[in-house]
Amino acid sequence: MGEEQSIDQFKGQSRLPKFATPRRYDLKLKPDLSTCKFTGTLDITVDVVADTRFLVLNAADLTVDNDSICFRVPESSKELSPSEVVLVEEDEILVLGFDDRLPIGDGVLGISFAGTLNDQMRGFYRSTYEYNGEKKNMAVTQFESVDARRCFPCWDEPAFKANFKISLAVPTELVALSNMPVIEEKVDGPVKTLYFEESPVMSTYLVAMVVGLFDYVEAISPDGVTVRVYCQVGKSNQGKFALDVAVRTLDLYKRYFDVPYVLPKLDMVAIPDFAAGAMENYGLVTYRETALLYDDLHSAASGKQSVVITVAHELAHQWFGNLVTMEWWTHLWLNEGFATWMSYLAADSLFPEWNIWIQFLDDNISGFNLDALSESHPIEVDINHASEVDEIFDSISYDKGASVIRMLQSYLGASCFQKSLASYIKKYAYSNAKTEDLWAVLEEESGEPVKMIMNTWTKQKGYPVVYVTVKDNALEFVQSHFLADGSVGDGQWIVPITLCCNSYDNQKKILLKTKSDKLDIGEVIGSPNGNTTLMGKITNIKDGRNWIKFNVDQTGFYRVSYDAGLAAALISAINENQLSAMDRYGLLDDSFALCMACKQTLSSLLLLLNAYRKELEYTVLSHIITVSGKVVYVAADAIPELLGDIKQFFIDLLKFSAEKLGWESRDGESHLDAMLRGELLTALAKFGHDKTLKEAARRFDAFLNDRTTSLLPPDTRQAAYVAVMQGVTMWDKSGYDSLLRIYRETDQSEERERVLRSLGSCPDPDIVLEALNFMLSPEVRNQDVVYGLRTSWGGREIAWAWLKDNWEYISKTWSGSLLSGFISAIVTPFCSEEKAKEVEEFFATRVKPSIARTLKQSLEKVRINSNWVQGIMNDSSLEEVLKGLLPAKQ
Ligand code: BES
Ligand code: ZN
Repeated sequence: MGEEQSIDQFKGQSRLPKFATPRRYDLKLKPDLSTCKFTGTLDITVDVVADTRFLVLNAADLTVDNDSICFRVPESSKELSPSEVVLVEEDEILVLGFDDRLPIGDGVLGISFAGTLNDQMRGFYRSTYEYNGEKKNMAVTQFESVDARRCFPCWDEPAFKANFKISLAVPTELVALSNMPVIEEKVDGPVKTLYFEESPVMSTYLVAMVVGLFDYVEAISPDGVTVRVYCQVGKSNQGKFALDVAVRTLDLYKRYFDVPYVLPKLDMVAIPDFAAGAMENYGLVTYRETALLYDDLHSAASGKQSVVITVAHELAHQWFGNLVTMEWWTHLWLNEGFATWMSYLAADSLFPEWNIWIQFLDDNISGFNLDALSESHPIEVDINHASEVDEIFDSISYDKGASVIRMLQSYLGASCFQKSLASYIKKYAYSNAKTEDLWAVLEEESGEPVKMIMNTWTKQKGYPVVYVTVKDNALEFVQSHFLADGSVGDGQWIVPITLCCNSYDNQKKILLKTKSDKLDIGEVIGSPNGNTTLMGKITNIKDGRNWIKFNVDQTGFYRVSYDAGLAAALISAINENQLSAMDRYGLLDDSFALCMACKQTLSSLLLLLNAYRKELEYTVLSHIITVSGKVVYVAADAIPELLGDIKQFFIDLLKFSAEKLGWESRDGESHLDAMLRGELLTALAKFGHDKTLKEAARRFDAFLNDRTTSLLPPDTRQAAYVAVMQGVTMWDKSGYDSLLRIYRETDQSEERERVLRSLGSCPDPDIVLEALNFMLSPEVRNQDVVYGLRTSWGGREIAWAWLKDNWEYISKTWSGSLLSGFISAIVTPFCSEEKAKEVEEFFATRVKPSIARTLKQSLEKVRINSNWVQGIMNDSSLEEVLKGLLPAKQ
């Protein structure tokens, strides 16, 4: 068949042909940090497994030296040169056509090439830093998902695993790192060549190199693995916390999977310009500075927590992802969902006092939110072109993925789940796996129909809301595909339902396989007061004297809607503090989602919120803050005349805990109190709470005079900055100018991020515009602009006009999720159909594949907001309810 093939037949394909497989790459690279160019040579050992006269591999943005290409066949000592060399730009492939068929078996493909260290934060790129007051370049790689091909020609798909033998020629004074340790160094005048040990088989997207000036801290794990954290020169102290977390996490995962970390070393490096948060390159994990560095004096508690979660996430990938790799990007969620879930497992083990599993619910809530859109996608998603891969690094793969894993773990039991994962890792080590391979292992270990259950969660988009009612002598429940616009989808799931009645000791489990089911009331209530008659039990439920909570501790990926009697009983249960924090969280979030979808009124949501006046749990309060922020935002559109009352209601609700916590940290206070304080004060500042604004101003002045003052510790700084921005106008810009001074004077990325996050919160549109223009100035790194795009209600129109004016430049400068970030931040605040149309029109001629999904999702969100605004306007009891909830006016 070889003769019939022509180059055209490889165009427009989603995957590379499989007639040749790479076994080993011998890669030599020489980056030039002053000209930002690099050259390279490659010898790839290739196993030709089928009859062909072609080799097809990936390459992009590279200049390949055609004359250098040759295929050496060791057996016959033949050297074959291709007669055709074609680089197909749109498919990012390099096709080599030989005159004759290639002999079956091993050959070595030699290629020389050259490229540019780009400024796009992908492939082999340039990042910059300051050293002794001088601006310097470093060279860094970021290959996931499909950018290894921008550094060297390769079979750039996760299933083509191979060994990598890498060497780097760099200036002698620099540090050069790769996945494996250095085994040999040759110095030749100003240049040294570092030869790295050959790696075990791995996928191309995990190959990494870093060249620059760094300091490091080091520890040896109990297993003898050398672990290092590399930071900017002079900052290595800030790497100690992450180093300790890494050593402890490696040990934990080794025990969990019953498989050790397989490489001899693990380096973790802070990179000043970095598109994502962190990247799990095998043995050389790269991070944004804020995700790796922690400084006791200058970092907030939330920063500490994100270091733990990020390190634990990337280290989980060393097993789940690097040792066992997804077979194709359709199974990306196996990587990201699992790493996300495992990072909480690790954080809980390292810091049990953080109640991290409650935080898991809130951190992964965007999975629920995104999956309630018709523009969502299944966890397992078809990928037809490389350009589609980046967009699925979204809340479906991460958050929904992690949540359905938690659901399954809770259904099968922790110990059975762990055993199965350990056998899965052993079975597929150094190889690739698909979603169904994991189900098969879990099914064998548990004896449960895992595949049948889980297919309903990973192969179709969306999730159910379960409506629960008391009818006759039974508790009836009906599932229906939940959509945030209030319509009903056509999905159906196998739902692991759990419920408890009156106490957590009285729990039931049912696997709901059909649209609806019911349970006898007598069976649900059991016999806490056994002599009550059945009629008595039913009356008790209807009267709210017995509470029934579905989805105990929110382990299931579904929502619940209760009939009026059941809902009332749950409100009493909250008031009497009988529900777990996870269940308090879940009730609030379900009610909020149902309210947004106009399935419940805003009045009923406010009545529920009123039961949380004594709430103390960090995550629940944090969610109350999120909910209140969104309600205030749409209320400004829907019911401006009641906005003041609504804000007052939320101020009253949050004041209890805000006053308890005050502005300053107390000795030995909990991590959660530290995080909560900042969030509460920020919310009060946004709602215009007078006392908070005044106190913020006083403390901010003190901070301006003395950056070490105890009056404004890192945890409360964001709140003070937001408070200051509430009062800035074109006539009095002093607060804005002071914030810019803080931005310019600090050398800490976390501090800069706090300032950027505050600037747009100003109600004055002219200031918002100035802040947005600042984001595009050379003073803000491209990676950080996303922090500054969320604006106040009053700033959203100007932000949209600004996006349109600057779109040409923006879409040229940013790509991937950073570019989509502009659209979601600026479009989703709108709440009307007219605006949705306007946005649609603008992008009609400007949309491209990498932003298409985000644009559709953002437009859908605008229409959902618009629908919600209508719903709120139609809520005739709102004024009355609000009056009842507010303290009587004097
Ligand atoms: N594999 C990803 C990094 C990545 C993201 C590569 C998007 C390509 C496209 C990494 O493991 C990751 O998930 N990083 C997260 C941090 C984590 C704590 C959720 C990130 O970058 O946000
Ligand atoms: Zn990840």
